[in-house]
Amino acid sequence: MIHLRVPGDKSVAHRLLILATLAEGESTLSGVPASLDVASTIGCLRELGAEVEDLGGGTFRVTGPAAWQSPREPLDCGNSGTTARLLSGLIAGLGIEAELRGDPSLSLRPMDRVVYPLQAMGARISYVERADRLPVRLEGRASGALRKLRYRPRVSSAQVRAALLLAALAGRTDLEILDRLRPRDHTERILRAMGAPVTSEPRESGEKVGLRGGTWNRGLAPIDAAVPGDLSSAAFLVVAGLLTGRRVSIEGVGANPTRTGFLRVLAEMGARVDLEETGTEAGEPVGDLMVTARSLRPFAVDESLVPQLIDEVPALVALASRVEGVSVIRGASELRVKESDRLAMLVSNLRTLGVRCEELSDGLRVHGTSAPLRGIVRTGGDHRIAMAFAALGVGPGCSVTVDDAQCVDVSFPGFWDALTEVDSGEGVQQ
Ligand code: S3P
Repeated sequence: MIHLRVPGDKSVAHRLLILATLAEGESTLSGVPASLDVASTIGCLRELGAEVEDLGGGTFRVTGPAAWQSPREPLDCGNSGTTARLLSGLIAGLGIEAELRGDPSLSLRPMDRVVYPLQAMGARISYVERADRLPVRLEGRASGALRKLRYRPRVSSAQVRAALLLAALAGRTDLEILDRLRPRDHTERILRAMGAPVTSEPRESGEKVGLRGGTWNRGLAPIDAAVPGDLSSAAFLVVAGLLTGRRVSIEGVGANPTRTGFLRVLAEMGARVDLEETGTEAGEPVGDLMVTARSLRPFAVDESLVPQLIDEVPALVALASRVEGVSVIRGASELRVKESDRLAMLVSNLRTLGVRCEELSDGLRVHGTSAPLRGIVRTGGDHRIAMAFAALGVGPGCSVTVDDAQCVDVSFPGFWDALTEVDSGEGVQQ
């Protein structure tokens, strides 16, 4: 068995860091990943006046509430959509002035999904260059709270939900979101752990989330938490383990049910998946994951499951390409607006390697094969495309080169060493 650890969950880390800046007192957060995306959030928070002290080894002390200030220079969100969207909500709620920018890839990703509802709440947020894209400018507001909002998002997105919750909290207003599907709920769990009046109610396939920010006059309690390991990073190592037939165990990963769709699909494919819960951090279940290879069947994923495995689709597709039969993913058009158009990138790279597949408007179909797969993969700078094909490359009969090895640092510095451990079977052996 190969024992591995993965960096802390990026989604949880962004949220803990941001929410700690609003708390009444000192929060200590450990296991914060050294990912470039999280570094973007920390950099922006500091520019906004927050005290985020690096204690070393992934531990940060955040002293709240921050003495907020309007930064002189535009805030750089780098490649991180979560940073851009969550901070848009926070800054709108605080009512200070700021401009948010991103790298060329982030500047191609849609912003209307947060800008529209924030405008509906009375925030003065507008585009600097072109509609629906970064940079955005927030103009502050003279005084008073934001307007309350009851909102049905067109896309069910955890980033939108978090942005609006932050706006309602910092802008002291009531919010109700009616999501058609159920995205990851880290923000609500952390808010609850910090004492905020947030409610969640399941509805058909979706969820209703509320925050009574208008009448709440207590502050957020500070929080001490260890960020759970990132299941989205673990997914690539699990796939490499399944392809090489090696048993992989990953300790201390986040086991939030709104994130574990990937594991449910693996189990349906016939893999043995053991997830032993070991505790809770910041309202998030944490566990040790063990995945054992068996002969696998193809899978079919539909819209209702997509939010729970949205970031794992590249890993699942890499696996599907080596599983005899046709695997299908539908209802996943959101993948076209991630760090790259992931549907197009997956299909073109699979074809380059010699895998038959079809691109659908909202998904793809992959015809698994055991024929040798060889070639150079174009990542387009997308970390998850790079890691998915790298994982495929360690499987028998595969030889894959990715054109940009560095881009994995956005989420998983240390990925290449971890992958080598799975590839060589030289992890800590049992
Ligand atoms: C994230 C939510 C997801 C995910 C992204 C991180 C988050 O996006 O793809 O990598 O931390 O909220 P959407 O929920 O907006 O699709």
